[in-house]
Amino acid sequence: MITEKKQPLILGVESTCDETGLALVRGHELLVDRTASSMDQHARYGGIIPEIASRAHLESFLPALDSALEEAGVALADIDAIACSAGPGLIGSLTVGNCGAKSLASALGIPLYGVNHVIGHLAVDQLVDGPFPEKFIGLVVSGGHSNLLLVNDIATDIVELGGTLDDAAGEAFDKVGRLLGLPYPGGPHVDRQGQQGNPQAIAFPRGLSRAKDRETHRWDFSFSGLKTAVARYIESLQKEGRELPVADICASFSEAVNDSLTAKAIAACVAHDCDTLVIGGGFSANSRLRSLLQERAAKESITVRMPPLRYCTDNGAQIAALGVNLYRAGVSPSSLDFSPDSSMPLTVTHI
Ligand code: KG4
Ligand code: ZN
Repeated sequence: MITEKKQPLILGVESTCDETGLALVRGHELLVDRTASSMDQHARYGGIIPEIASRAHLESFLPALDSALEEAGVALADIDAIACSAGPGLIGSLTVGNCGAKSLASALGIPLYGVNHVIGHLAVDQLVDGPFPEKFIGLVVSGGHSNLLLVNDIATDIVELGGTLDDAAGEAFDKVGRLLGLPYPGGPHVDRQGQQGNPQAIAFPRGLSRAKDRETHRWDFSFSGLKTAVARYIESLQKEGRELPVADICASFSEAVNDSLTAKAIAACVAHDCDTLVIGGGFSANSRLRSLLQERAAKESITVRMPPLRYCTDNGAQIAALGVNLYRAGVSPSSLDFSPDSSMPLTVTHI
């Protein structure tokens, strides 16, 4: 048995988008998690500006590292291995984080793992809820992804069951937020507004719900038709000069998205004989997703593991957590000449 003293100390480096995340994890124990976000600088443009994000990573990397080491009470020389996000994400942002991580790994003479950011969204749950069962279904939902995965081993064996054919869940929320004039990113605002509204007020469509689609796209999602339906609804009320029932629109739209996500996630657990569902990614902070999943999972005796809200959005802990799995599985480290991969497939855990 590995004693607590011998657990590996892993530094996680996250830099896929607007968050610079540095975290230190010993085994499955999180020692420190530092995040610097450049979102305030992007909000006024209504979207992420890659050049601004890259520059912000460069400014935040070393201060975040220093403060993480100080808070954890460890020295650089104590670190056993480094994991950094290698994709999917913005190439400029990834390059800054990858250069920092490569320099440290080279200077310290320790292994480096260039890992899949999206899989990290699932791995982080181990820091809160403990080791994973033998296999589970993963639902990753973020600004760029809405995927169902069969995870046989988080370090080495992931099967992609399906994903979105168009918009991701977070992306659809952000677009509806924009239609309603809510601040960017709209996801959390649409969520909050929806909590005050009636989810049955407006009958918005569920994507891929026709019998034919259910056969050919059993584990896929589609949210662009729904988003168009919301846009048309808003336009028709505006033409008539009527006030928008913002809370009801948000609640009904949210219900449509979460009805699809939760129904397919639970069905995937049943079909693949998994008694555990793990969710992750920025959208897994959504209040209706969390409540509807609990409701529906309980009926099938499925355990839903959902990270606390602070680990749903991008962070260094998710990257360190996946690094621990790779290190313990004895997986070969990444070569120091790797390039980040903006569209890294979900079945690839590291580069
Ligand atoms: O995982 P993440 O931090 O970044 C990506 O890798 O995309 O996810 C960000 C996404 C954004 O689209 C944001 O609007 C959405 O997650 N989001 C939410 C909520 N919190 C964050 N969407 C709906 N409800 C929320 N509570
Ligand atoms: Zn993410």
